Amino acid sequence: MQQNYSLMVHGGAGALDHVSDDRVAVRYLESIRVVLEHGRETLARGATAVEAVEQCASLLEDDPLFNAGCGSVLNENGKVEMDAGIMDGRDLAAGAVAAVGNIANPVQLARLVMDGSEHVLLISEGALRFAQHCGIKLTPDHYFFTPERIKQLEQARLRGRMMLDHDEEGEAQKYGTIGAVARDRDGNLAAATSTGGIVNKRSGRVGDSPVIGAGVYADNTSCAVSATGYGEDFMRTVFAKTLADFVEFRDADARTAVDQGLRLLRRKVSGRGGVICIDRAGRCASGMTTKKMIHGWIEHGGETLCRF
Ligand code: GLY
Repeated sequence: MQQNYSLMVHGGAGALDHVSDDRVAVRYLESIRVVLEHGRETLARGATAVEAVEQCASLLEDDPLFNAGCGSVLNENGKVEMDAGIMDGRDLAAGAVAAVGNIANPVQLARLVMDGSEHVLLISEGALRFAQHCGIKLTPDHYFFTPERIKQLEQARLRGRMMLDHDEEGEAQKYGTIGAVARDRDGNLAAATSTGGIVNKRSGRVGDSPVIGAGVYADNTSCAVSATGYGEDFMRTVFAKTLADFVEFRDADARTAVDQGLRLLRRKVSGRGGVICIDRAGRCASGMTTKKMIHGWIEHGGETLCRF
């Protein structure tokens, strides 16, 4: 059986000081490993890259450790408002949802937008109506809430500021989001990104994750990209598409595209976050401007590797 597939997933970037505790670190790494092994089985049996990234992102959304789906951070009103995007590198089909609550797996709704609507991005009430039209049952609020997220909101309110997800020392910043990128056995690329956004964010704030070309992008002629970090920085630099342009027009490989992209992010907007990227040849690369990023990968069907 041909094993020439590649897969990467991430669970957010930041200082991640709380994962210096070994027990916490093990929980994160184990979760990433389980998701990658699931993705490996999916790709090895011939599933498409889109199926693989949707499934991996859904598993990460289901895990309350990560800021997406169950365990999403809370906005200024103590509500969950999630964003997600997915893209198919075969034909640049894309789907996204923004500022949605009560959807257990926003990435699956984004896929339905891609496959079952004539649109790319649906938001808020309209996205929920579309979900119901597609037969998705709404999930009660309490499913999404965790004690950790309630505490984070209280801290953010006390400090009178917004916070991202994985704490950045001195700034109280955390950059949580989940994402997956894949290249399937037929050489097709796909990317998915999903997030609860920023702690104590304004109601109605949308980050980069559902913005095609900012936090998510895939094109068979270049690469598949999923970003995590301070969404405004990634939108202002059209980050994911910029990496794709490096691959397509400068013939960069994934490593060079990530390095050049992060240099540009730092220089132009002092951007904070990280990225995973698989190029058209299936080469994997990751990088971050923060101290750490929870992520893992399988390159060309090889060993499963997980890192901070
Ligand atoms: N990157 C996630 C967000 O800013 O919402």
